[in-house]
Amino acid sequence: MIIFAITGTPGTGKTSVCKSKALGLEFMDLNKVIEEKGFYTGVDNERGCFIADLDKLKEYVKEEKEEKRGQKKGGNLLMVIESHLAHFLEPDVAIVLRANPLLLADRLKKRGFSVQKIRENVEAEMLDVILAEAVELCGIVYEVDTSGKSIEEAAFTVREIIDAEIEGESGKKEALREKYKPGSVDWTRHLTVTMKSVKCKVQSAKETIIYS
Ligand SMILES: Nc1ncnc2c1ncn2[C@@H]1O[C@H](COP(=O)(O)OP(=O)(O)O)[C@@H](O)[C@H]1O
Ligand SMILES: [Mg+2]
Repeated sequence: MIIFAITGTPGTGKTSVCKSKALGLEFMDLNKVIEEKGFYTGVDNERGCFIADLDKLKEYVKEEKEEKRGQKKGGNLLMVIESHLAHFLEPDVAIVLRANPLLLADRLKKRGFSVQKIRENVEAEMLDVILAEAVELCGIVYEVDTSGKSIEEAAFTVREIIDAEIEGESGKKEALREKYKPGSVDWTRHLTVTMKSVKCKVQSAKETIIYS
């Protein structure tokens, strides 16, 4: 059983990729699990989100893994976990989705995120926060820049990685590990432009709030 974590800053396309037919796999929507099963230790009122209970989530993933294992003997069993916290749950492979911070800012704005939340997430993406966590915690990490890709194209790439890891066909796997190795994405080249632009966006978002 191989556990895949599809992780990345909010807005990088994790849910879209996992729902895409091009991925075509069952997946665990961790955010839903957190909410539905009450696996949180509190609520962050400022950010409007739950504070996840990672111990309970780890336990739940273990149980699900055992259940799946019991259902099918042999074969290539896998589990896909989708969340910006998925890399904390001891996956075998972490696939970190990346998106240009400017693109991210636009998407999060459309999603109705607060100015503060947009800024926090854009900064986290610029500074490789999730990638660094994944590299520290997971043995195998892929980094996929989805900026120039459609949802289907991104999902196709993720599927290609999953298939290669499962088949264990070393040539393809090694080539993909090399192609998507951590460190291949670097937003710092765009740092100044992004900072300026996000500031502008932040200001205009503020104006929208004030004048709407
Ligand atoms: N590769 C992509 N190309 C264009 N739009 C995308 C892409 N990935 C995601 N989006 C859009 O960005 C928004 C956030 O995507 P979502 O999958 O919810 O991100 P996440 O689950 O990582 O927070 C959605 O409106 C989605 O349609
Ligand atoms: Mg999502």
